[in-house]
Amino acid sequence: MVAALVSFTMLFSGFPEGASGELEIFSWWAGDEGPALDALIKVYVAHNPSVKVNNATVTGGAGVNAKAVLKTRMLGGKPPDTFQVHAGQELIGTWVVANRMEDLTFLFKDQGWMDVFPKDLIKLIGTDKGIWSVPVNIHRSNVMWYIPANLKKWGVSVPKTWDEFFAVADKLKAKGVTPLALGENWTTIHLWESVALGVLGPDKWDALWTGKLAFNSADAINVWKVFGRILDYVNTDYASLSWQQASDLVINGKAAFNIMGDWAAGYFMTTKKLRPNVDFGWITPPGNQGVFMFLADSFGLPKGAKNRTAAIEWLKVCGSKEGQDAFNPLKGSVAARKDSDLRKYSVYSQSAAKDLQSNRVVGSLMHGVVANEGFMNDFQKVMEGFLTNKDADRAARSASDLARKNKIGR
Ligand code: GAL
Repeated sequence: MVAALVSFTMLFSGFPEGASGELEIFSWWAGDEGPALDALIKVYVAHNPSVKVNNATVTGGAGVNAKAVLKTRMLGGKPPDTFQVHAGQELIGTWVVANRMEDLTFLFKDQGWMDVFPKDLIKLIGTDKGIWSVPVNIHRSNVMWYIPANLKKWGVSVPKTWDEFFAVADKLKAKGVTPLALGENWTTIHLWESVALGVLGPDKWDALWTGKLAFNSADAINVWKVFGRILDYVNTDYASLSWQQASDLVINGKAAFNIMGDWAAGYFMTTKKLRPNVDFGWITPPGNQGVFMFLADSFGLPKGAKNRTAAIEWLKVCGSKEGQDAFNPLKGSVAARKDSDLRKYSVYSQSAAKDLQSNRVVGSLMHGVVANEGFMNDFQKVMEGFLTNKDADRAARSASDLARKNKIGR
């Protein structure tokens, strides 16, 4: 009787029994980035008590280290059972073209997800041959964070344009405050995408990725020029700081602003126990008004996964309302599903959810939406070069060569 009742519940909650053994979940959500994933795993374990979860993380923001480890494992025929991957070109242009992923269309149909996820998002994780991952969230890349009490103390207000930023930045510099906190290489690319979006506007940003605007056009050269000016206002030790350490400069009152994705909101709220709109504030970066630059974390099923059954159960939890509403309020992101319960989310996330509905939405470069990993890896070298020589023309020319080599827009 009890057993029958349990199976009945499992059936109707969409989580049938049957998975056992070990499940390796591979991601870069380690340390400070861990609490949201832990909450998701807790939901999984509640539905799959016979599975032993191996939460395999490789530290390093934006997956800079994890992606390299994953590549070695995938190419060596030792894939994890499931792994974190960004929706968009990071998934499609890397692992799907290499024929390493299983088609998950059956799961989307069985779980009724075709109507639950936004159509554009399904397009981004799909090709004409299948649907290749399960999105757990939508993060916003273009957010500028600050501590309202500190701005007040320094007598500055939030800049809306890059020109306003330069004026505010000079004032801050004169007071011995770092205007903009920055971290290691990938965070410079993260900053670059917000600068590019602000300088170019959304149409031209999109045009870079469809091949309609050349990377060596006057517009694109101008992006590097503005970016170079901004670098005059960042902390000098940026190359050695993680994104959390760069955020700490803002929290500790050493720096005024930081442009970072809204996992920073998760860090402020979950790790640092700061209250949104009270202890910390946010605004879209200069020139980014009305545009939401998005990215989505997802999990996929690699071909050859050792515990395919347990991995499929994991993917069900990732796509479920229960899983997404446990994970995202801690992560700083909003659910990828359209039916999440926003009352469970912070005022920051509620505002992001509202902007996502009303803003123009464009894709992130650093976090895998618009370009494949080939371009991204090479672009990191272009950035390294620029950070040393600040030569805008040269950076634009190199980026244009990479775009051709990696078939961007073709
Ligand atoms: C992004 C990822 C986020 C967050 C961030 C910092 O690429 O999508 O979920 O983890 O990196 O590590």
